[in-house]
Amino acid sequence: MAKRPILITGAAGFIGAALVKELLLNGEKVIGIDNLNNYYDVNLKKSRLDNINRLTIANHATWRFEQISINDFKALSDIFESYSPRIVVNLAAQAGVRHSMKFPSDYIQSNIVGFTNLIELCKTNNIENLIYASSSSVYGGNENYPFSEKQSVDHPISLYAATKKSNELIAHTYSHLYGIPSTGLRFFTVYGPWGRPDMAPMIFAKSILSREPISIYNHGEMKRDFTYIDDVTEAIKRCCYQPATSNPNFNKNFPDPSTSFAPHRIFNIGNSNSIPLMEFIKTIEDYLEIKAIKHFMPIQPGDVISTASDNKALESWIGFKPSTSLKIGISKFIDWYKEYYDIN
Ligand SMILES: NC(=O)c1ccc[n+]([C@@H]2O[C@H](COP(=O)([O-])OP(=O)(O)OC[C@H]3O[C@@H](n4cnc5c(N)ncnc54)[C@H](O)[C@@H]3O)[C@@H](O)[C@H]2O)c1
Repeated sequence: MAKRPILITGAAGFIGAALVKELLLNGEKVIGIDNLNNYYDVNLKKSRLDNINRLTIANHATWRFEQISINDFKALSDIFESYSPRIVVNLAAQAGVRHSMKFPSDYIQSNIVGFTNLIELCKTNNIENLIYASSSSVYGGNENYPFSEKQSVDHPISLYAATKKSNELIAHTYSHLYGIPSTGLRFFTVYGPWGRPDMAPMIFAKSILSREPISIYNHGEMKRDFTYIDDVTEAIKRCCYQPATSNPNFNKNFPDPSTSFAPHRIFNIGNSNSIPLMEFIKTIEDYLEIKAIKHFMPIQPGDVISTASDNKALESWIGFKPSTSLKIGISKFIDWYKEYYDIN
């Protein structure tokens, strides 16, 4: 019998489109859905889909795309009925910490209602494995570096983070009640080719190339564990083939937040190398051979000062951890950026 496909939500997004390619190259049949919303440039989302279509034709790979919202239960239910996926990867979400201050309902709709629709359908459709995007932002006000999955994450400082933490709680509940193996992946600042225009790498590259000032928040006193896209897709792919299991040593008297008596796991996906913001900017300046015009600003509400990932649990689970250096990652990102936007 033919292998059932993998369903990827948010397939026109930065991580989703990269994952679709990775799984198609691995011989999988992939169904992608995305509502193509206009949170950022819709043409970039469409170009990512065109790029997948080109690869599909070249490799005779099996790929279908449907423009639907995970908020629409009926449309989502039709997708499950038509394609009968065996693995579901949920990357569709309203992303962005700052946007959540102005548009809270987008986060409740896509990240809570949409996610619940999806997991309800996983329950009734015999899904072998659910992988879903969480975020390093769930560590909120923690200052115990590097962030480990064993830490409490009960102090979010943005609505975005609160919705991601809610996903972890909902997924755990469904894993317990209905035996759905589910894995939450806390991504740490992902960057690379086909990246997001609302994130620092793209904002900085664009402004530096056009000799416009860049805003540097918290006067540059920030650190991020920048993680290269290919490392992220490799880690997600491996998790697809390794459904969560219950932890036989789970101790209900001393509960470890990263594992459970239910088949639910949580992993960080970061580079284990927290980079000061000013070093990050210098890496872009060096590769472009252009000095940035810097405007130093106070910290923005909802932003965390520093992120750093402990990857030990991920490595022992899938035998892999991100390792691409910032220098290599930035060079690949800038090369793509110049080609895509036709800049010499
Ligand atoms: N990129 C990062 O650094 C990062 C860090 C932490 C967590 N994440 C999470 O990883 C996931 C993917 O992030 P990304 O960087 O690719 O973001 P992205 O915005 O590029 O991709 C998300 C995609 O989901 C789609 N979408 C949004 N709401 C939808 C809905 N209701 N129905 C269907 N499609 C919908 C969007 O159109 C978009 O194409 C998100 O859940 C995000 O919160 C990303």
